[in-house]
Amino acid sequence: MTFDLDRIRAHFPALALQHDGMPRVYLDNPAGTQVPHEVLDRMQAAMVGCNANMHGNFRTSREATELVHQAHVAMADFYHAASPDEIVFGPNMTTLTFMMARVLGPLFEPGDEIITTHMEHDGNNTPWRRMAEDHGLVVKTLPWSRDTYEFDLDELHALITPRTKFASLNYASNILGTINPVPQMVAMLKAAGAITYVDAVQYAPHGPIDVQALGCDFLVSSSYKYYGPHQGVLWGRGELLDRLRAFKLRVVPDVAPDKFETGCQSLEGQAGVIGAIEYLQWLGTTMGSEHLHSQPGVPRRTAEIHAAMAAMAEYEYALSGRLIAGLQAIDGVQVHGITDPASFERRVPTVSFSRVGTQPSDVAGFLDDHGVYVWNGHNYALPVIEWLGLADLGGVVRIGPTHYNTLAEVDRAVELVAEFVTAH
Ligand SMILES: Cc1ncc(COP(=O)(O)O)c(C=O)c1O
Repeated sequence: MTFDLDRIRAHFPALALQHDGMPRVYLDNPAGTQVPHEVLDRMQAAMVGCNANMHGNFRTSREATELVHQAHVAMADFYHAASPDEIVFGPNMTTLTFMMARVLGPLFEPGDEIITTHMEHDGNNTPWRRMAEDHGLVVKTLPWSRDTYEFDLDELHALITPRTKFASLNYASNILGTINPVPQMVAMLKAAGAITYVDAVQYAPHGPIDVQALGCDFLVSSSYKYYGPHQGVLWGRGELLDRLRAFKLRVVPDVAPDKFETGCQSLEGQAGVIGAIEYLQWLGTTMGSEHLHSQPGVPRRTAEIHAAMAAMAEYEYALSGRLIAGLQAIDGVQVHGITDPASFERRVPTVSFSRVGTQPSDVAGFLDDHGVYVWNGHNYALPVIEWLGLADLGGVVRIGPTHYNTLAEVDRAVELVAEFVTAH
């Protein structure tokens, strides 16, 4: 099945917009993606048709309650969770993670150890350091190699002790693009009895997730990175969610997910998440059919989403290859991440670079003058930028294509970077 970019792009109204008469080129996708009409339609239908709070005894409230339930069912399929009750919605990953740090902290004793890594977005770093401060825990940090841009699992092994109680792990880096060997890391930590919390925000737009196969205890992502609206979605192992003491109001039932979703939730946001899943299902069934395999115990919708991810990844390898080779050909540019096409299955298409003497913010500004949108700076991944030694130099320029970008758009970005470098 060919990957039909025209059909794909027609789903996203924003891709047709202009920037001062030039086509807009969205290469800021690691920060947030554009949304397809499935999402917009779902959000509008929710806001027009059942804009009410849940659990009332009237039609629109009943419909809102059902819609919210369906959003949990959809995300359970996205993560391949055992139950929709293991899905907790929140405004974003960071807020959910601060909440979980507050909830998990009392499980630990002073002197217990937690592990985090130098590859984290700060959203999977500071909440846990704060938890450690509040409960007298020792924080150990797993480095990554500045040669390979990957972890050395022997180094993880060396950090684990009988007192290791918790680890926060990055699935894919929002700067380097590296996809980490999370199943192996989780297995090592589980063997020591530690709780594992996986930040899948950058991985989720590019690869299939199966929390039951991963074996972790928590996993979190943000739907606005995979074509949905601004919503964070946490999965937690059922028996852990059940026994954790939530910060909830008396009137809220003491059951998951309700006890973690206290206060009125974003009905329109959760409706939009259903739309994002519908879009992925469309992609999986129309353009990923050769990857669509039924497996016993795996819902059809999960298989369709995984087929979409496989089809997207195949195409995204081509985008990464073109982008990385183009950037490396520019004098003085250093790409920070895996660059060998033979290893592209160990990276997402998020590509960051720096160049001595070139201010990342100036590059982003120059590209914006030409309608090309990219991020610069630390992108909240402070541990990564510090480990790269770029904290005082303005961080990196990050170019992040996704499956709706064309090769011509990537070429355009590379040409503009080259033009900027030549002129400065
Ligand atoms: C890897 C990673 N983790 C966490 C976050 C934070 O996500 P949110 O904005 O949903 O809090 C981001 C956002 O870019 C991210 O890239």
